[in-house]
Amino acid sequence: MSRMIVPHTTPPSDSTPERARAVRKAVVPAAGLGTRFLPATKATPKEMLPVVDKPAIQYVVEEAAAAGLDDVLMITGRHKRAIEDHFDQAFELEQALAAKGDAVRLNAVRDPARLADIHHIRQGDPLGLGHAVLCARHHVGDQPFAVLLGDDLIDPRETLLSRMLEVRDRHEGSVVALMEVPPEQIHLYGCAAVEPSGEDGVVHVTGLVEKPSREDAPSHYAVIGRYVLDPAVFGVLERTPPGRGGEIQLTDALQELAAGGTVHGVVFDGLRYDTGDKADYLRTVVRLACDRADLGPEFVAWLRQFVAGLEEGGESGEGRERLAA
Ligand code: G1P
Repeated sequence: MSRMIVPHTTPPSDSTPERARAVRKAVVPAAGLGTRFLPATKATPKEMLPVVDKPAIQYVVEEAAAAGLDDVLMITGRHKRAIEDHFDQAFELEQALAAKGDAVRLNAVRDPARLADIHHIRQGDPLGLGHAVLCARHHVGDQPFAVLLGDDLIDPRETLLSRMLEVRDRHEGSVVALMEVPPEQIHLYGCAAVEPSGEDGVVHVTGLVEKPSREDAPSHYAVIGRYVLDPAVFGVLERTPPGRGGEIQLTDALQELAAGGTVHGVVFDGLRYDTGDKADYLRTVVRLACDRADLGPEFVAWLRQFVAGLEEGGESGEGRERLAA
């Protein structure tokens, strides 16, 4: 395993919330091959695919930073150099923009490296999400930590991760993010058996199963890609055998912790985008572009016209001709 450390330039703020002092580190697994997006991901990591004008993984690191996590460890693999470069300085580019006096773009180039202390470690053999998390053990040490999966984007206006950190503060143990999904989609996710906790939006997780069939699913609650984990998970992961798909599954390790009564779930019903799926990726780009002050108004006007054209012209192309005019 190799390690590269990129120091950040922004000192931790004094206004960092109290809870963030207990959990400071975030782990972002980013070693997947991205086969669903080939050929785009042949030479470009899937995490670097642009969502409007930022790579998907930057949104994830921004989310961690916004929740007060100032240390981010990326678990990468071969062909992921672009991720390291993105969160590093870009000397020639910065010089060229500074010489032109282009402060806006200069800041955009510098921002990723300022978000947090960013570290990179390579997974080596891609043996599954559980194995990726285990690779973080040395860096994380004996502290609770967050895990953010890059395919799941949580809308920047949501506060899911902060809520999870707050639940960890009060209950110790581990916390998973849960979202109700239609029964026909549960086989795409880890699924949680839950009991009420008495607190609004928080449940006890009594069991977890990775990607169950609709018939075997204990609930409609899907685990989405945000976790706050107790370091006890490392000891469990070490002895977790390969599970579904022959991979060491984080869900299987969490099942053992859940059986011991130490896992809570925070129920999320806000905006989440799955950028690992092509149709959802397109929806994500459109939604976030519509919300942008600089692009939104013009883009929404065009989109309205485009959709109206589709409805009127159908497949005949009439609407499209009108739009092109
Ligand atoms: C992973 C986890 C799964 C979780 C999902 C959320 O699966 O193994 O439990 O529900 O992320 O996105 P993946 O989508 O990587 O196959």
